[in-house]
Amino acid sequence: MSGRTEARKIRPGPRQQRALDAMGVQVWVPRAGQAAAAPAVPAPEAASPSIPVQTGEPPSAAVPCAASGPTGWTELRAEVAACTRCELHRTRTQAVFGTGSEQARWLVIGEAPGADEDRQGEPFVGRAGQLLTEMLRAVGLSREQVFIANILKCRPPENRDPKPEEAKSCESYLQRQIALLQPRLILAVGRIAAQNLLQVETPIGQLRGRAHAWGPAQIPVVVTYHPAYLLRSPGQKARAWDDLCLARSIVAPV
Ligand code: URA
Repeated sequence: MSGRTEARKIRPGPRQQRALDAMGVQVWVPRAGQAAAAPAVPAPEAASPSIPVQTGEPPSAAVPCAASGPTGWTELRAEVAACTRCELHRTRTQAVFGTGSEQARWLVIGEAPGADEDRQGEPFVGRAGQLLTEMLRAVGLSREQVFIANILKCRPPENRDPKPEEAKSCESYLQRQIALLQPRLILAVGRIAAQNLLQVETPIGQLRGRAHAWGPAQIPVVVTYHPAYLLRSPGQKARAWDDLCLARSIVAPV
């Protein structure tokens, strides 16, 4: 099976158009009767090994779930809050578990808390977080309708990249979050999130533009740019919009 899924361009409604404007994206849609000039999703710069794509109904085989039900979340939250598995617990203000709906169809995964997140205990609350909120709004979603988590639950000092051993220490927390949530789609934002989740070292440019699959349930994973990168490189926002269109074409977010 080809690892590529073409996104259908979404003609934005008035509310979406406002969200796209806020995100700083100009969307070109074909005039009536006119074919789109270019594929909606730019081809990855180079072919990388294709990973099975899950595009249809949700997998019947659920992710193995040791602790499902309401208590599973409560226990997991408590464990994360008290975690001392790696050195980052010494410098954190608090662990950042994640936020959003425990019934969400989309799980958004970022890298690690930054200074604002460490202070407030919530992921993506700084400037990058505001842009993420606009990105979600552009596909008709509020933050409350998705679940947002990170690869690392604690802030690395000076916002450095997570160390492999830190990601490893934190891995089972994210796996348990996924098992509890059973999302229909995972949106990995940024290289660190994508590479850690998919356990690859492929550059992000080659991970974008197609669906990957995660875990035994083959949950579709779409990779997009990190909003902090988009703040530095606003010219890439149109590509991020393509990624969101791809994700939405695979699994309707609500
Ligand atoms: N960047 C991330 O990847 N995660 C956050 O929670 C905040 C900024």
